[in-house]
Amino acid sequence: MANETVAVIGAGTMGNGIAEVFAVAGYAVRLYDAAGAALERGLQAIAERVKKRAERGRLAEDPAAVLARIAPMAALEEAAGAALVIEAVVERLDVKREVFRALDAACGPETILATNTSSLSVTEIAAATTRPERVVGLHFFNPAPVMPLVEVIAGKFSAPEAVDAAVRFVEAVGKVPIRAQDTPGFIVNRVARPFYNEALRIVGDRVATIEQVDRILKAAGFRMGPFELQDLIGLDINFATTTSVYEAFFHDPRFRPHPIQRMMVSAGALGRKTGRGYYRYDGE
Ligand code: NAI
Repeated sequence: MANETVAVIGAGTMGNGIAEVFAVAGYAVRLYDAAGAALERGLQAIAERVKKRAERGRLAEDPAAVLARIAPMAALEEAAGAALVIEAVVERLDVKREVFRALDAACGPETILATNTSSLSVTEIAAATTRPERVVGLHFFNPAPVMPLVEVIAGKFSAPEAVDAAVRFVEAVGKVPIRAQDTPGFIVNRVARPFYNEALRIVGDRVATIEQVDRILKAAGFRMGPFELQDLIGLDINFATTTSVYEAFFHDPRFRPHPIQRMMVSAGALGRKTGRGYYRYDGE
C-alpha cells in the first residue's frame, strides 16, 4: 500500500483535502493544478491542517513526515506512475473529459482513473478515454479529511475489479465506501437537492428567513442548516450540481434550481471561500 503513488488533479477545496487524506494514510502523493497559485494555496492549506492535527494530538507521526510524502507536479503527465489518479477539477464535463483524455494518454494501462465529480456522469467522463473499464467515481465529501463517507461509483463500463480496487483504496485511508450506480447525483447529492431547493423556495416565498431556516433545521437535528452548508460547499459548486442533476433528469421540476442561486453566483458571493455567501465571513 504505502509504496503506491496516488496522484490528485486539481488542488482546490476537494483536491487538497483528498491529497491530505492519502498522505496521512502513508501514500506518496502527487498534486497538480492548472493554476500555479492554486497549487501553492492547496499545499499551504494542507501544511496548516496537518500541523493543527499534530498540535491536537491527532497525528501518529511528525507533520513534516506527512508533508514530505506530497510532491507538486509541474505537468499532468507526471501522474504516469500512479496506481490511482483522482481528478478534482471544476465541475464541467468538457474540462473533466479533457483531463481524462490527457491522463489516459499519460498513464499505464493498470492505472485506475477516478473522478470526484458530484453530479456528472462517470460513464460520460470515461468515454473520453480508451480504458472506460479502469474509470470509476470516487466521490469524497467536504471537508475530505473529516468526512468519513466516500461514494464509489461504477460507470456503465467500469470493470468490477477496478471498482473493488477503488473500494480497497477508500478502506485503506480509513474511510467508509458506499457503492453507488452512475445515476444523476448518485445517492447523497440526489437526496440533498430537495434539501437545498425547498429551503431556497421557503426563503424566496418569504415564509422564513435564511437564519430561521438554518436555526430550525439545526434544532431538528441536522448538523448544519442548508444555507450554512452551501456557504461551506461553495455556492458555485452547489449551483453547478443542482443544474447538472436537473439537466440529467431532463428538466424534472423536482430538481429545478432556484433563481436566488444564480443571482448569488453571478454576484460572486460564493460562500466562505470568497468571504461572503448567504452569511459574511469577512468580518463586516
Ligand atoms: P475548486 O474550485 O475549489 O477547485 C478546483 C480546482 O481545479 C481549481 O484549483 C482549478 O484551478 C483547478 N482546475 C481547473 N481546471 C483544471 C485543469 N484542466 N487541470 C487541473 N486543474 C484544474 O473546486 P472543488 O470544490 O474542489 O471541486 C472540485 C470537484 O470536486 C468538482 O467536480 C466538484 O463537483 C467536486 N466536489 C466538490 C465538493 C465541495 O463541497 N466543494 C464536494 C464533493 C465533490
